[in-house]
Amino acid sequence: MKLKEKIISRKANIGVVGLGYVGLPLAVEFARAGFQVTGFEQNPKRKAMINRGENYITDVLDSDIKEFVSAKKLKAVTDFSLLKRLDAICICVPTPLDKNKQPDISYVKSVTQRLARFIRKEQLIVLESTTYPGTTEEIILPQLNASGLEVGKDFFLAFSPERIDPGNKMFKTKDVPKVVGGVTSKCTEMAQLLYSQILTKIFTVSSPRVAEMEKLLENIFRSVNIALVNELAILCKKMNIDIWEVIEAAKTKPYGFMPFYPGPGLGGHCIPLDPFYLAWKAKEFNLTTRFIELAGEINDRMPEYVVQLVQGALNQKGKSLKGAKILVLGVAYKKDLDDWRESPSLKVMEILDKMSADVSYNDPHVSRVKAGNKFYPSSVLSGKSIKQYDCCVIATAHSVYDYNLIAKNAKLIIDTRNALKDVVGKYLVKVIRI
Ligand SMILES: NC(=O)c1ccc[n+]([C@@H]2O[C@H](COP(=O)([O-])OP(=O)(O)OC[C@H]3O[C@@H](n4cnc5c(N)ncnc54)[C@H](O)[C@@H]3O)[C@@H](O)[C@H]2O)c1
Repeated sequence: MKLKEKIISRKANIGVVGLGYVGLPLAVEFARAGFQVTGFEQNPKRKAMINRGENYITDVLDSDIKEFVSAKKLKAVTDFSLLKRLDAICICVPTPLDKNKQPDISYVKSVTQRLARFIRKEQLIVLESTTYPGTTEEIILPQLNASGLEVGKDFFLAFSPERIDPGNKMFKTKDVPKVVGGVTSKCTEMAQLLYSQILTKIFTVSSPRVAEMEKLLENIFRSVNIALVNELAILCKKMNIDIWEVIEAAKTKPYGFMPFYPGPGLGGHCIPLDPFYLAWKAKEFNLTTRFIELAGEINDRMPEYVVQLVQGALNQKGKSLKGAKILVLGVAYKKDLDDWRESPSLKVMEILDKMSADVSYNDPHVSRVKAGNKFYPSSVLSGKSIKQYDCCVIATAHSVYDYNLIAKNAKLIIDTRNALKDVVGKYLVKVIRI
């Protein structure tokens, strides 16, 4: 049976490489559509959990994993020779930055090397990891071509960025239109056909490069706008203007404005990192991407600014930061998630610790973190415990927090998310908003 018929009849065997925040929800959608899905996961704990029918990603339902694993629609493996048996393979491995803010595409390269060993006729390969324009055609294609097979005829290769917004209850993997760009038109057609089995809206573009670039445009757009509003927040504070009120007012314009909110900085595996993939690539063309660099610089400074607010507020009360007991509330980079990768809360904690404050944190979703070179357990949060701190810093506005309890018992609060907007006037506590 040809690949096309296998996809239409849902007899195609699907492989998802990397069962993380992106790969696992995708694997689940394919399994839900009736496909047999094999997940390649190098983390032995994650692999074992899947095979026991257990979930570890907030956006995925525990019952889905249980159901699809017991129905033998989903399994996790590490043996890459099994790739031979698969018809379509989606690559969802990490694309971090190294310590010099240069792209680290070693994960993509290592998966490609293995794929190149096992590729056969009538296979479709799609890269979903966010990366710089050119990765699919300059890194993956040459290695697969070395097999002697011809792209667009024997096998198909495309890039299709993942646009998942972890924690978003309205838009899940299947609800977000998917952009697809193949190396040839036949590759685009095949990838479009695959995704149309699990999603309703597919937008095709003329090449992988366009698809790679559009994903970066989305993330750079966010990074730049967040930096803009962070810069204005600092200015507004000096001018004694409430930035949150300004944004509420601007938001009433029905066109040409989209609200972004200030905060303690950027976090997660995407927005703080992805723009630098393009900044790096631009150098090959003797160009500097000034917006990207500037936005990165402003957003990177926000944790320090938060600490300045803490220090200033303590000073006003005649206290020094040194030795002050500070509780950081929320270390996940985003509300209601358990993901603390690149979280600005960790930087806030690290700076506070370096300045000799006595730092603790609470996060109902994260039981233990490493900030700087120290490990911290999540502290108990109760009216009694809050009273012991000289200052509470709301860094992530989780919905489960009882903001009345916090405002009622805290001595001083730095609110970086305007989380107390509905309770602030009710209590005597001094609240400083970003
Ligand atoms: N997290 C998001 O919100 C998000 C959204 C859109 C796009 N992306 C992009 O998707 C990609 C994946 O991100 P993520 O958040 O899912 O990362 P993740 O760390 O949650 O998941 C990646 C998984 O890949 C596994 N892995 C790494 N190397 C492997 C290998 N050689 N073989 C098999 N498994 C391997 C890891 O163990 C991990 O479980 C990145 O490029 C990211 O930028 C992420």
